[in-house]
Amino acid sequence: MFRTHTNGELSLHHLNENITLSGWVQTIRDKGFMIWIDLRDRYGITQLVFDQDRSSAALMEEAKKLGREFVIQVEGKVIERVSKNPNIPTGEIEILVEKLTVLNESQLPPFTIEDQTDGGEELRMKYRYLDIRRNPVKDKLIFRHKMAQKVRNYLSDQNFIEVETPVLIKSTPEGARDFVVPSRMNPGQFYALPQSPQTFKQLLMIGGMDRYFQIVKCFRDEDLRADRQPEFTQIDCEMAFVEQEDVLEIFEGMTATLLKDIAGKEFGKFPRMTFEDAMKNYGNDKPDIRFGMKFVEVNELVKGKDFKIFDDAELVVGINVEGCADYTRKQIDELIDWVKRPQVGASGMVWIKFQNDGVVTSSVNKFYSEEDLKKITEKFGAKEGDLIFLMSGNENKVRTQLSALRMELGNRLGLRNPKEFAPLWVIDFPLLEWDEETGRYHAMHHPFTSPKPEDVHLLQTEPGKARANAYDLVLNGNEIGGGSVRIFDKDLQSKMFDLLGFTKEDAEAQFGFLMNAFKFGAPPHAGLAFGFDRLVAILDGNEVIRDYIAFPKNNSGRDVMIDAPSKIADEQLNELELRLNLKS
Ligand code: AMO
Repeated sequence: MFRTHTNGELSLHHLNENITLSGWVQTIRDKGFMIWIDLRDRYGITQLVFDQDRSSAALMEEAKKLGREFVIQVEGKVIERVSKNPNIPTGEIEILVEKLTVLNESQLPPFTIEDQTDGGEELRMKYRYLDIRRNPVKDKLIFRHKMAQKVRNYLSDQNFIEVETPVLIKSTPEGARDFVVPSRMNPGQFYALPQSPQTFKQLLMIGGMDRYFQIVKCFRDEDLRADRQPEFTQIDCEMAFVEQEDVLEIFEGMTATLLKDIAGKEFGKFPRMTFEDAMKNYGNDKPDIRFGMKFVEVNELVKGKDFKIFDDAELVVGINVEGCADYTRKQIDELIDWVKRPQVGASGMVWIKFQNDGVVTSSVNKFYSEEDLKKITEKFGAKEGDLIFLMSGNENKVRTQLSALRMELGNRLGLRNPKEFAPLWVIDFPLLEWDEETGRYHAMHHPFTSPKPEDVHLLQTEPGKARANAYDLVLNGNEIGGGSVRIFDKDLQSKMFDLLGFTKEDAEAQFGFLMNAFKFGAPPHAGLAFGFDRLVAILDGNEVIRDYIAFPKNNSGRDVMIDAPSKIADEQLNELELRLNLKS
């Protein structure tokens, strides 16, 4: 038996018991006559003591040979500590070691394996298995496991069945690029890794499964960000014989259950906002509603005063930053530089201060009288001490730019408390979006999304105006899930492919299997998928999903630990009948 107890469980209740422990040597304090060792495993730390008055000389010798991260087993007696450590559960006891066995030695680790480590990001990624020994990483993986358990329980209780769908499939269009896998048995042909199990879950509905879920890996070859990984996990769900409302209710219930567990309170009905309102009021389809700074449009108040920039703009829109009228010139200039960075791309910004002495002043006093400015502050509902920023330009662009500023100020002003949760459904997304580059429509969600029945007629006349029965669940300014009611009529589906610019042949080649299945009694169905990594990170008060993935990829999509992707041998290439035509 390697152990009678773990390193997190012994206390004064076990006083004088003979126990066996196993684990890793975290720290060694050698005073010559006494040696203390912190022994670690997943469950905690237990202090071991070797004492020349109470331990044999041979045992003292053995203990002196130990190094950090050696794997050892000890037998000994639980004794009361002289100087207790109230910060850890085992802090009142220590183990007087009677027998020591080295199970495995360890090289000196490349960074200290403690909560505060000296290892940089890249180094820790390379030795991720060592990083996982550290509490901050280990605890996140345990948190993820607990959330997965709760999700499984909730959905199973609601009659959902977990079904696995294949990983070697044909491309599913979710908007990103596919990762492809060559087929040896079918030379020149490729599988694609699923961007999501979308078509399969629809086929499961046609198969009569009624309620499906899967905690499933998805793969997307897209540029990485803090909230994106090339392989990530979805809680993928689909339901038959339901309308949008049924789906929202089930998944609001699931999210509220998780939130209650973490925040310890009921969340009630989640607010809802249309896509149109979200864009108008927050410039963003995933607004963080934990704080205000709603957009206010002021075209009618600023035009015709000879200020050319505003006169020429399609939209002049701003936010009121409450209580910030005392910002210095330097602070404001720094923010103006911030919005001018290429990542935001604004050409500039106008400020208006409603000073504490009641005076209203601005960076455009040359064009606007105090009376003009006061009218603007009134429209914002600003009060003494407030600071207004105005931006202008192309309607869509300026909204996106102002939204970036709003989020930045939210962060800087501490308005985005990670322990406060604000869920929000964004509904009524447009069905299609126009892509300037390709000069055609793209499905805003995916091509299987149903238009709102009352907007179907628009498909003939103004397709861009048609809204979809599509919804996103937003949590603290992050899109944690999205889904839609699906098309289940083959003619409407075929019309959608038409609109999206597929020829009949292309649609048949790519989606013939689905269209065919629609001929055999497809039930009405709808569903959604959560980004599980995002959900877990945000519930844990974080926005970086990498920390919640055991073996993540770095910003260039590489796994630096196993060094992937990598070249493959010529024999492999030959066997696959692949010829590489690389420039270098
Ligand atoms: P969608 O493409 O919106 O919908 O994806 C669902 C959710 O998955 C998360 N997500 C990601 N998380 C981490 N890294 C990524 N690269 C990444 N991409 C997406 C997001 C997103 O909300 N089949 C549809 C769902 C449906 O219609 O039922 C789909 O995949 O949190």
